[in-house]
Amino acid sequence: MDLTRATSALAGTRFSRITWVGETGSTNADLLDAARRGEGEQVLGAEFQTAGRGRLGRDWSAGAGASILCSVLVRPAPETSSPHLATAAVGLAAAEAIEHVVGWRVGIKWPNDLVAAAASTGTHDDRKLSGILAEAVVVDGRVDAVVVGIGINVNWPELPAELSDTATALNHLAGHDVDRTDVVIELIRRTAMHLDAAAGPDGRVGLRDAVSARSATLGRRVRIEQPNGLLEGMAVALGPDGELVVETATGPVTVSVGDVVHLRPI
Ligand code: BTN
Repeated sequence: MDLTRATSALAGTRFSRITWVGETGSTNADLLDAARRGEGEQVLGAEFQTAGRGRLGRDWSAGAGASILCSVLVRPAPETSSPHLATAAVGLAAAEAIEHVVGWRVGIKWPNDLVAAAASTGTHDDRKLSGILAEAVVVDGRVDAVVVGIGINVNWPELPAELSDTATALNHLAGHDVDRTDVVIELIRRTAMHLDAAAGPDGRVGLRDAVSARSATLGRRVRIEQPNGLLEGMAVALGPDGELVVETATGPVTVSVGDVVHLRPI
């Protein structure tokens, strides 16, 4: 990571600092600690994580230097304090950043995975490029800070066998290694822009519309794996807090948590 160049992306944004370390446990854990110490909005990245965290209590592992592993600490205004807004802003920013640098259209698979469309990888299914994990610090019942962590597969020489059917990396899309700093600069600038816009009038609706327009899930038949069972239907809309509205045989169901499988059209 070229930290001098990456730092230039902060100019004029809400983020006061970017730090990039060689190794840490988890950039999310570190920024949650920073938030509890009262620190302000900033970005933290790492070349390698020894205890990277994924959604739903899973691990997130990546080889040293092969990925972008970073988190942003956001202190939302009370009226826009839903952790979903910060998550959506980072997801949208990352999709746009990748598209800007690599030139491939990137979709957002509900809830927050970035995927390369099947057509761009020459495969039958979309493939995961990136995952996002948002965690909040709540003080006196109010969201005091949100930490949104993102892992983007950038320059992976080989995909690990267990991921080779479901994941890909930017170098496989581009056909050559991709400069991680270029992606991080766009990611920071666009995250700040979307966060600022979301806090303005109609900002929440604008952000939801932009995420909907880029959704790889809406308009697809889906199966949702939830802690309490399976649900199948057509994904038709996103709710105000990023929920997925699924039209099932028995009517619409709003889903807040779960893993989505995109099914082939009947
Ligand atoms: C997922 O399960 O898809 C979300 C993965 C999020 C991984 C990123 S890597 C940087 C940040 N630090 C962590 O410990 N996790 C997030």
